[in-house]
Amino acid sequence: MQIFKQVHDLRQQVTAWKKAGHSVGFVPTMGNLHAGHLSLVKIAQQTCDKVVVSIFVNPMQFGPNEDFDSYPRTFELDQSKLSDLQTDAVFYPSVDAMYPNGIQQTKVQVPEKLTGLLEGESRPGHFDGVTTVVNKLFNMVQPDKAVFGQKDYQQLAVIKTMVEELAMPIEIISAPIGRDADGLALSSRNQYLTNKQRNIAPKLFVTLQDLAIAIQSGNLNFLELEQAATAQLLAAGFDSVDYVRVCNSKTLQEATPFEKERVILAVARLGKTRLLDNVLLNI
Ligand code: PAJ
Repeated sequence: MQIFKQVHDLRQQVTAWKKAGHSVGFVPTMGNLHAGHLSLVKIAQQTCDKVVVSIFVNPMQFGPNEDFDSYPRTFELDQSKLSDLQTDAVFYPSVDAMYPNGIQQTKVQVPEKLTGLLEGESRPGHFDGVTTVVNKLFNMVQPDKAVFGQKDYQQLAVIKTMVEELAMPIEIISAPIGRDADGLALSSRNQYLTNKQRNIAPKLFVTLQDLAIAIQSGNLNFLELEQAATAQLLAAGFDSVDYVRVCNSKTLQEATPFEKERVILAVARLGKTRLLDNVLLNI
C-alpha cells in the first residue's frame, strides 16, 4: 500500500494507473476508520481496479465550537486496517498541503435549500466546507467513481447535487449504513459515549424504525409522528433532540402525503455527542 502526502506524487501514480487502463475508485474519509468506512473501501474495490482512500480532518467543515482539535486522529491504526484490506493507496495530506494559501477563498456552494436545513441549520457553513474539500480531493485524485455512506444522508445528497450541477465526470456510489449488532450506526464519535450513554444510543435506530413502521402502515400525519418520536427519544434517556424529520428523499424538503419517496432523518444528543441516523423508506 502506497502512502502519499503530496498531491504531485499521488497524481503521478493515478496517471500511470489510468495509462495502464485501470479504473480508479475513491473513498474520502477523516480517518479513525471503523467497519462502516471499511465497507466503503470494499465497495470501491468491487467496482474499480485501483482504490485510493483519503484521510484528512478538514478544518473547513468544522464550526468554531465543534470538535476539530479533539477529533480522533489514529493514522497508524487506520493505515494497518487499510493495508489489511489491500487498499492500493492512501492520500494523507497535511492541512498546509490541502490549503497552501491559508484560508480557502474559492468555495463550492450547493444551493441553500439543500444545505441550509437539517444539519445546515445548526452547522452554518458546514456543507460549504464539505463540498469545497471534496471537490478539491476529486481534482487531486481524479477518480472514476467515489463511494459515500448513506449514514450522512444529507452529505450524500449535497455531493450528488454538486457532481450533477457541475457535470463532474465521477460516478457517486452510495453505501448502506454499517451498524453495530445492537443497531447503533457506526461513527467515530461513538467512542465519546460513556457506558450508560452507549446503552441508550441504539434506541435512536429503534425509534426511527418504529416511525417507519407507522408511516408504512398508513399514518401520514408526519408532524405528529415526529413529535411522538422526539418524546420517545427523550423518554429513552437522550438529553436533547436536534430534529426528527420525515423528508422527501431527493429534495430533503418536508415530506408531503403525496410524494412517496421518503427518508426519516434524525439527530439526538447524549451529553455533547450528536448521534446522527436515518431510515430510508421503501416505496
Ligand atoms: P467521515 O465522517 O470520516 O466519513 C467518511 C465516509 O464514511 C462518509 O462517506 C460517511 O458517510 C461514511 N460513513 C461513516 N460512518 C458510516 C457508517 N456507519 N456506515 C456507512 N458509511 C459510513 O464524511 C466525512 O468523513 C467527511 O465529511 C468527508 C466526506 C471525508 C469530507 O471531509
